[in-house]
Amino acid sequence: MKAELDPQAAGQPSPLAIEPMVEADIQPVMRIEAQSFSTTWPSNAFYNELRDNALAHYFVGRAGGRIVAYGGIWVILEDSHVTTIAVASEERGRGYGEAVLLHLLDDAVARGAAWMTLEVRESNAVAQTLYRKYGFTTVSTRKGYYSDNNESALVMWAGNLRSEIYRNRLRALRAAALSRSPAS
Ligand SMILES: CC(C)(COP(=O)(O)OP(=O)(O)OC[C@H]1O[C@@H](n2cnc3c(N)ncnc32)[C@H](O)[C@@H]1OP(=O)(O)O)[C@@H](O)C(=O)NCCC(=O)NCCS
Repeated sequence: MKAELDPQAAGQPSPLAIEPMVEADIQPVMRIEAQSFSTTWPSNAFYNELRDNALAHYFVGRAGGRIVAYGGIWVILEDSHVTTIAVASEERGRGYGEAVLLHLLDDAVARGAAWMTLEVRESNAVAQTLYRKYGFTTVSTRKGYYSDNNESALVMWAGNLRSEIYRNRLRALRAAALSRSPAS
């Protein structure tokens, strides 16, 4: 392929195609899960979420034909909760995590959510920077939330997702993100 037609050869990340997660995706998702978290979900947790939890909505992002990112939310009336989000370690810093978060926000709003919350480790500066970019602020701390090292969790919230001001913010962020790494 000529360099100018190949996004990666031209220094641009491959476009990310985001689709609902299906059971066949769980194995590649588990590889990224193991790279990403010190306390990992067993594959059964993903199967249960996909099969049995009507409130749960999970997505995978594919680039260059393979799964490089995933994320999930629960939506309960006006509240949504990011349960997980991760990008393959070798694919970080290319806009994929942001694309997945944008997709989760879009999906939550489409399902009627007005608010989004998540927990993040106190030490996870990268994720916190991403969340703050999308208007999440810390509203409380859960002391010793993570059992592996007794680390505290910051509880962050964003909203009102349906307000004019938030929709404008999202529009501007989406345009900037698309200009850097095109979604497919
Ligand atoms: C957090 C995570 C999903 C971000 O995904 P990513 O694809 O690397 O991030 P992106 O390239 O989309 O970057 C989006 C934004 O995240 C923040 N960010 C990304 N990498 C960063 C870094 N090294 N330092 C600081 N902020 C960073 C920035 O705000 C960035 O926006 P900008 O490019 O305008 O500065 C990814 O690092 C990851 O999978 N980490 C391990 C799992 C995890 O911690 N998940 C979150 C649990 S709460």
